[in-house]
Amino acid sequence: MAPPCSRWFTVVAFLFASSSAAASMYDEVEMVWGNDHSFFYIDGEGGADEILALCLDETHGSGFHSKDAYLYARFDIDMMLVANNSAGTVTTLYLMPEDVPWEIHDEVDLEFLGNVTGEPYTLHTNIFANGVGGREQQFRLWFDPTTDFHTYSIVWNPKHIIILVDGVPIRDYRNNNNATTQPAFPTWQKMKVHGSLWNADDWATQGGRVKTDWSAAPFYAYYRRLRVTPCAPSPGVSWCGDEPPESPLFDQEVDGAALRKAREEHLLYDYCKDTNRFKDKGGIPVQCSFDE
Ligand SMILES: *[C@@H]1O[C@H](CO)[C@@H](O)[C@H](O)[C@H]1NC(C)=O
Ligand SMILES: *[C@@H]1O[C@H](CO)[C@@H](O)[C@H](O)[C@H]1NC(C)=O
Ligand SMILES: *[C@@H]1O[C@H](CO)[C@@H](O)[C@H](O)[C@H]1NC(C)=O
Repeated sequence: MAPPCSRWFTVVAFLFASSSAAASMYDEVEMVWGNDHSFFYIDGEGGADEILALCLDETHGSGFHSKDAYLYARFDIDMMLVANNSAGTVTTLYLMPEDVPWEIHDEVDLEFLGNVTGEPYTLHTNIFANGVGGREQQFRLWFDPTTDFHTYSIVWNPKHIIILVDGVPIRDYRNNNNATTQPAFPTWQKMKVHGSLWNADDWATQGGRVKTDWSAAPFYAYYRRLRVTPCAPSPGVSWCGDEPPESPLFDQEVDGAALRKAREEHLLYDYCKDTNRFKDKGGIPVQCSFDE
């Protein structure tokens, strides 16, 4: 059985005091909650990787965020999810501004919904802009995310929010630049990248029917190699928000053919196809023609 969540707490600072890796995840992130349910360890070829383990038991889970906040960047991180019976657990990766009122809340959300042993995870995604979310799309991963690290990425620039799995785009949410409809794109607030592991057995697995099996606790999820690449504008342009509208710069990272293929093969749920949900609300949201 795995060791209890809080066993590791004091070991960590000592280990890393002597580490001087160039881009150090240990230096770039801090715990936001459940500090005593997390630890760093070193692994990989020649001790190259600083791995952050988040732990969940009956008392609580844990979560971290980046120390720095960014306005337009690409975020890449490797994750290995809770193995075996992960039903009821949710492991997350998301962007969010710090401490803002709900009316201006922005968020780009990836939630990995656990499952019973042998049944697949669901990757649940959502995008909030100016306090409005409800833009859920769900995917089935095409590999077992619990046996190895896989790379999950969010590209956020003034025209696109692209979500990628191992470099394959699965969602392209575009800025519709339409001032008459509700502003539906995060364009002005810096966001931090977050990760967390928590219990959500009231809804996460098979609609909440399958509860967390605490006899299998503690549960662990692992993060490594956080890479943040701030958005770089064209020469002579002061920042990405000032890039001229006709500039092709921000479209370069979109591989349309790969996106369509991934969505054909792995999309499970799309709010844009959920006509029942929106039938009394004026139909499918306008944003849907900019979200695929
Ligand atoms: C998952 O189950 C396998 C096979 O029973 C076992 O070897 C492995 O240690 C388990 N992993 C965890 C994280 O409990
Ligand atoms: C903005 O959205 C409204 C409502 O859907 C639409 O009527 C209008 O044509 C759009 N304007 C532009 C410039 O696309
Ligand atoms: C869990 O497995 C069941 C059965 O394969 C599947 O229907 C469901 O979508 C899976 N994921 C979640 C989060 O329930």
